[in-house]
Amino acid sequence: MKVLGIDIGGSAIKGAPVDTSTGRLLSDRFKIETPLLLSPSEMADAAGMIAAHFRWRGPVGMGFPGVIHGGTILTSANLDKKFIGCDAIKLFGKAMGLAVALANAAAAAGLAEMRFGAGRNFSGKVLMLTLGTGVGSVLFFRGCLFPCELGHLQMDGKDAERRVAASVKHRKDLSWKEWGTRLGRYIETLENVLWPELIIIGGISAKHGKFFKYVKPRARMVPAEFLNEAGVVGAALWAERERRTSRGRAQAAGRGPRNGPAPRPSSGTPAHQSLV
Ligand code: BGC
Repeated sequence: MKVLGIDIGGSAIKGAPVDTSTGRLLSDRFKIETPLLLSPSEMADAAGMIAAHFRWRGPVGMGFPGVIHGGTILTSANLDKKFIGCDAIKLFGKAMGLAVALANAAAAAGLAEMRFGAGRNFSGKVLMLTLGTGVGSVLFFRGCLFPCELGHLQMDGKDAERRVAASVKHRKDLSWKEWGTRLGRYIETLENVLWPELIIIGGISAKHGKFFKYVKPRARMVPAEFLNEAGVVGAALWAERERRTSRGRAQAAGRGPRNGPAPRPSSGTPAHQSLV
């Protein structure tokens, strides 16, 4: 399936059409820098520009850096607070005139890594962290995905993301050793409660493996493979997954679509079913 993936980040919004069967981008990403905080309607206009750039008429998947319940944004730590409480599916859907599915940005990036990147074929406990403007987190186990907000755990009296995000390293000009050591303390805390078997580090820092030697985790720790494409690819995968599962649910309730391919027998999303 071809889906336009859009990743809203702390400093840019970017998008590209994605082939969800391979995880490949079908064109170069189109990126709009957002050095100033955009209001929800300005961000929706920017998303509309991305769709217009690709003359897109198909489904859209979007990743947003905050808690998402249903289609509503509940938190916005690093973007305009006016996003809080926004029905984002309506906001972005209306701006583009297209059907939109929305996920937490780190959950989307994790989905891409689990399906096609550093976590492929691994069904044990996985913790993925994205270190960028903030710290995103998502857990996977036996194919289930659990978006979480581990960047807001307290560390040294602050939200952990104010200590270990890549933006903090940059702003405070921390050395790899200083930053890696902080990150090591943070990851040690996470490991003590979550006991992941694999930790995937994504975000703008993943391309610099220079801090890895200071972290010393118990689990195997690897860099993300998609680098800065994970959010775009994952957002597209999320939209595909939402279509698959809602079609399955609708059909199970006797409201199945009349057209289009029948859902696979396993697409009713029981708790044990793999969503990755
Ligand atoms: C947000 C998360 C998001 C992360 C990375 C955090 O501040 O609360 O939801 O995944 O930033 O973008």
